Amino acid sequence: GQLDKLAKAAGLKYFGTAVDNPSLNNQAYMKIARDKDEFGQITPANGQKWSNTEPSQGRFSYGSGDAVANIAKQTGQLLRCHTLVWYNQLPGYVSSNYNRDQMQRIITTHIQNVAGHYKGQCYAWDVVNEAFEDDGKFRQSAMYRAMGVDYITHSFKIAAQTDPATKLYYNDFNIERCCNAKINATIAMIKTVQAAGARVDGIGMQGHSRVGKSPSKRELMDTMARFSELVEEVAYTEVDIRHTKLPTTAADREQQAKDYLDVVGACLETPKCVGITIWDYTDQYSWIPGQYPGEGEACLWDRSYNKKPAYTSIASLL
Ligand code: XIL
Repeated sequence: GQLDKLAKAAGLKYFGTAVDNPSLNNQAYMKIARDKDEFGQITPANGQKWSNTEPSQGRFSYGSGDAVANIAKQTGQLLRCHTLVWYNQLPGYVSSNYNRDQMQRIITTHIQNVAGHYKGQCYAWDVVNEAFEDDGKFRQSAMYRAMGVDYITHSFKIAAQTDPATKLYYNDFNIERCCNAKINATIAMIKTVQAAGARVDGIGMQGHSRVGKSPSKRELMDTMARFSELVEEVAYTEVDIRHTKLPTTAADREQQAKDYLDVVGACLETPKCVGITIWDYTDQYSWIPGQYPGEGEACLWDRSYNKKPAYTSIASLL
């Protein structure tokens, strides 16, 4: 393996991958996932989400999250922790009927427990995930409806108190290509939250996109330049570039390689871009076919663990 080794030599902090619980007992999968020279960083794809960590109010369960966190402990890979406050994969009891004080207590308890449990283990936490609609309006999540933008400020403050050493990130999708309403809304929100006294260390751009339609290197760099004015670091946190038409041709796979190169190249040329995480490394466990039926083959390895042209070109660029 070599992606992380090459990425570090090129000046990044890590090249990483998401790892999800169903793949942990697959030896062929784990051999590559645990290869530190390939992946210097891992992210639990689901195990640390609210529905897993606090499935009923005040009852915490860390089995799924720990299974992935323990791999990082054993290998020495960095752990990106994902995610504390998100509108999705949220248990029913976190309902929009709470008033401000009730919601503030629910968020406080959740973050104190979960970030407390993982204290010292996380290179970074995605403190708040996906607060905006694509048009730049705040999502009408249970948290937003109870507290407005203050739920974001509050979440960052509690996370900072609970685990002061971890990097605190805001994370979202469709904030990669400069510059749309969602990017502008993100920038305004980060300024508001910082002005209210909360620390935000990083902005994570998920980086889910489609072959042939993904942002250019220039567009990616323009966005990161704007985010870099606000925070100490930026990162691509969930990269996958899916084919919208299957089966793919050799030309499709070459296009995918070019699209991945734009992401890696943009990060390399952005001083504050610390790393790239792919949202799983093999098509065998990609979330894409489940989420977008008929689309897929978004990863760097195919489902038989063969490296694709995208892998080879990233390795040669790095
Ligand atoms: C996805 C997981 O990969 C799937 O297994 C799950 O069913 C749904 O969530 N943005 C995020 C990630 O921040 O948490 C999502 O992960 C993908 C989109």
